[in-house]
Amino acid sequence: GRIVVLYGGHTAEREISLLTGQAIYEALVQQGFDAFLLDVDAQNLRDQLANKAFDRAFIALHGRFGEDGTIQGLLEMFNIPYTGSGVLASALAMDKFRSKLLWQGLGLPTPPYQLFRRGELSSLAINLPCILKPVHEGSSIGMTKVKSLDELQNALKKAYQFDEQVLAETWITGREFTVTILHGEALPVIELKTPREFYDYEAKYTTNDTQYICPCELQSEERKQITQLALDAFSALGCKGWGRVDIMQDDANNFWLLEVNTIPGMTTHSLVPKAAKVAGIDFNQLVMSILATSKS
Ligand code: DAL
Ligand code: MG
Repeated sequence: GRIVVLYGGHTAEREISLLTGQAIYEALVQQGFDAFLLDVDAQNLRDQLANKAFDRAFIALHGRFGEDGTIQGLLEMFNIPYTGSGVLASALAMDKFRSKLLWQGLGLPTPPYQLFRRGELSSLAINLPCILKPVHEGSSIGMTKVKSLDELQNALKKAYQFDEQVLAETWITGREFTVTILHGEALPVIELKTPREFYDYEAKYTTNDTQYICPCELQSEERKQITQLALDAFSALGCKGWGRVDIMQDDANNFWLLEVNTIPGMTTHSLVPKAAKVAGIDFNQLVMSILATSKS
């Protein structure tokens, strides 16, 4: 069938999406699929979807309009099966604040936080250090670690460039992990180590000093715990198909949920392909497996 790979778009993560989409497209072509790359912009998207008779969409978009349920809704209306999570789960996972509300409601651990809204004055009510995050962004865009109160205003200002809502989250000192979920199963856990202050945009995509440890060192009980936590967090939001759950472990060995990514990066620096490789799944097989998450 005809598969359209949706990529690009006009978001802060556009550059990452272009790499993700290109890699996926090449894997599909190599495997003999009738694949099309489509850079998403609202003006031509509707006509393309309406006229080109695509059988399936592989969504390779990150961030708003792509990872947040918007394009999923459009595809539903055009009756085109698509990869990954549906409208509601995508919207919830893109919203770091509402993800936390749901997890808390279910008793799943997530760091203490406070929501700031542009234009509202409020004083910091959680402990320092904390980390500021635009509520609906990805790839650590707009994030700052805040160590003292006098850094708060600048950090807020930076985050507000990307979002009207900003989450302040208690800083967890410890280890950082990520768990890929594919067809309801967890792939091997990856531990991330960076000499930088945190695993920021540069550590994710441009520097060569990030360590990706997989398989990583965890006691078997801890491995079970983190894997179950990832699966619980994923299903709490109603996610399906594939995704990646980011989790911290504090110095007392407690795990804390940071977020779920419903369309994780598939670049050469990205985590999902690394986890898949350790599980014995090469990139082409991974793309096939994700494609199969779209129901026709
Ligand atoms: N938001 C980026 C693409 C990721 O989670 O991989
Ligand atoms: Mg993310």
